[in-house]
Amino acid sequence: MPTIAITGKGGTGKTTFASLLVKHLSTKSATVLAVDADPNSNLDARLGMHVEQTIGDLREDLLKEHFPAGVAKSELIEYQIRLALVEGDTFDLIAMGRPEGPGCYCYINNVLRDVLDRLSVNYDYVVIDNEAGMEHLSRRTTRDVDVLFIMSDVTVLGIVTASRIKKLSEGLNLVVGKTYLVLNEVENAIPESIKDQIEQQELELIGAIPKDALVGEYALEGKSLFELPGDSAAFKAVSAIAEHSITP
Ligand SMILES: Nc1ncnc2c1ncn2[C@@H]1O[C@H](COP(=O)(O)OP(=O)(O)OP(=O)(O)O)[C@@H](O)[C@H]1O
Ligand SMILES: [Mg+2]
Repeated sequence: MPTIAITGKGGTGKTTFASLLVKHLSTKSATVLAVDADPNSNLDARLGMHVEQTIGDLREDLLKEHFPAGVAKSELIEYQIRLALVEGDTFDLIAMGRPEGPGCYCYINNVLRDVLDRLSVNYDYVVIDNEAGMEHLSRRTTRDVDVLFIMSDVTVLGIVTASRIKKLSEGLNLVVGKTYLVLNEVENAIPESIKDQIEQQELELIGAIPKDALVGEYALEGKSLFELPGDSAAFKAVSAIAEHSITP
């Protein structure tokens, strides 16, 4: 089950891309687990789902609980994680919730990671929508990432930030198969200055998503991106990116 993670600076379209990727993979009859790793979760709404309980909520409870004798802690955590899992018709969704508080949650984080890894085995694809920045990668919700997409807007600063994120990811003790740059909200042809910057930063551009008025409209109305028509420009671009990078 390839694990696909989406990162990038704030507002670059991570959640939009993640949602459209889940939609694309679902149309391929693949089983998909969508993971909302942003504490300010909104992937559920974009996918037309509703998360009642995040893993963060469960973790708080776990720390307070006394475990019944004879029940392995990991079994109990796995059970609780299954409670947080929202099952959809064509994909499932789980939300990580807020990051840990001031105490040391290392042990429990490790167990959670193990359990998510185990849960992942049941799916053809795992798609993780991350919060802006890099901290999430060091917290690591899953052990390995097969494909890391770094989103950027069409600005030199955006590309430089994407490059910084890539370097940070390489500095962490994290296994990443392939890292690709995705340009979002592209209105015209990609300017030469941007192409130059991408080359200079040694980033691999996998595709560009056009600015799509329908995507904006759906966001405005709070409509699920899952309902976006198949001929939407943004959806077609995401499908093409997926075909070139993750689907065999
Ligand atoms: N290709 C596009 N065409 C039109 N609007 C877009 C496109 N991509 C994203 N948007 C809009 O830009 C805004 C930010 O997108 P999104 O929430 O996906 O970014 P994000 O990177 O997940 O943000 P955050 O860092 O807050 O999590 C949203 O209102 C979304 O509808
Ligand atoms: Mg987001």
